[in-house]
Amino acid sequence: MSSVKGVNIIEQGEERKSAHIELAANSQTAGNGLDRRFNYEPLFAAHPSTVARPFSFLGKTMQAPIWVSSMTGGTEAAYKINHNLARACAEFGLGMGLGSCRVLLEGSERFPDFDLRPVMGNEAPFFANLGIAQLEELIDNNELQKVVDLVGALQADGLIVHVNPFQEFFQPEGDIFKRAPMETILAVLDHVKFPVIVKEVGQGFGPQSIEALLQLPIAALDFGAYGGTNFSLLERLRDSNSYNEIYEPLVYTGHTAFEMTDLVNAAIEKLGDKVQCKHIIVSGGIKNFSDGFYCIQKLQMPAVYGQAYELLKRASQSYEDVRNYIQKSLEAYRMAEAYLRIK
Ligand SMILES: Cc1cc2nc3c(=O)[nH]c(=O)nc-3n(C[C@H](O)[C@H](O)[C@H](O)COP(=O)(O)O)c2cc1C
Repeated sequence: MSSVKGVNIIEQGEERKSAHIELAANSQTAGNGLDRRFNYEPLFAAHPSTVARPFSFLGKTMQAPIWVSSMTGGTEAAYKINHNLARACAEFGLGMGLGSCRVLLEGSERFPDFDLRPVMGNEAPFFANLGIAQLEELIDNNELQKVVDLVGALQADGLIVHVNPFQEFFQPEGDIFKRAPMETILAVLDHVKFPVIVKEVGQGFGPQSIEALLQLPIAALDFGAYGGTNFSLLERLRDSNSYNEIYEPLVYTGHTAFEMTDLVNAAIEKLGDKVQCKHIIVSGGIKNFSDGFYCIQKLQMPAVYGQAYELLKRASQSYEDVRNYIQKSLEAYRMAEAYLRIK
């Protein structure tokens, strides 16, 4: 008699049928929670056999469309988190942006937190990260070479520049921008030969900023959109004593990844061959694979989706936790690719 995993197939069938009868009452959808973004088309694909599917992104090779968004470094906990994340990048062929490498401009004591290329391997994209304020200061001191040295020391493929005027404003020890971030970005692009990515940290970018960025020779626009972790809010929570609630409405402004997806498409249509930016990292408030899948499918430019908080939660627990999350997310993503079409 045939059996599956050592269990008699008749017994197994009986168990399953009993469970179906018991659980049917709790399995009523009644239209609630229907994801109306997708058409479901079950006829035209076999079940996907593997989650790995190599494609070129930022001049490197990724095996799956997930980007580890820029987060941390500079603490003991960050060392563990970063190594868990980099290990997952190596296993699944994902790209990764480092958290702000500012501390490395001061000295090399925390270098091991960020030294992830040996863990990640050389296949997938791996980017260093600095904020506008640090870059402004380096430009003023004629020290942009330090950025080139930093990227070289990390064996990174390039630099992510984070644009964060609200975060700096809310941060008690925050920096003041002396010039428009656009000027700083242009100066950096003028100086360096490696690819540059521009991102926000939880408010996203509006239509004029998107149009301006798409016309720059940047390697990618990383949304850092509104809807997930918000650094204005985070800084407010860090320092509730001196926090001025008059500022509060600023926290709740910005653009979601869904809105930015539409704004990018509109800008591409408007700008035509003036568009120089070649890739998008959809990030900020991406709760799960289906948010990422939706935006990637909709975008008129090659894209991957990035997550910070959802990966942080798991990577700070253990490698198994983050591994399991990514594995399951990718399995579900491949199912979506096979059977869902955006409306
Ligand atoms: C703990 C933590 C630290 C972060 N540090 C940085 C950073 O140093 N540089 C940066 O560009 N973004 C940083 N971010 C912002 C993320 O890259 C991302 O844009 C933002 O968290 C929104 O994504 P999420 O909603 O998936 O968390 C950080 C996010 C988290 C959660």
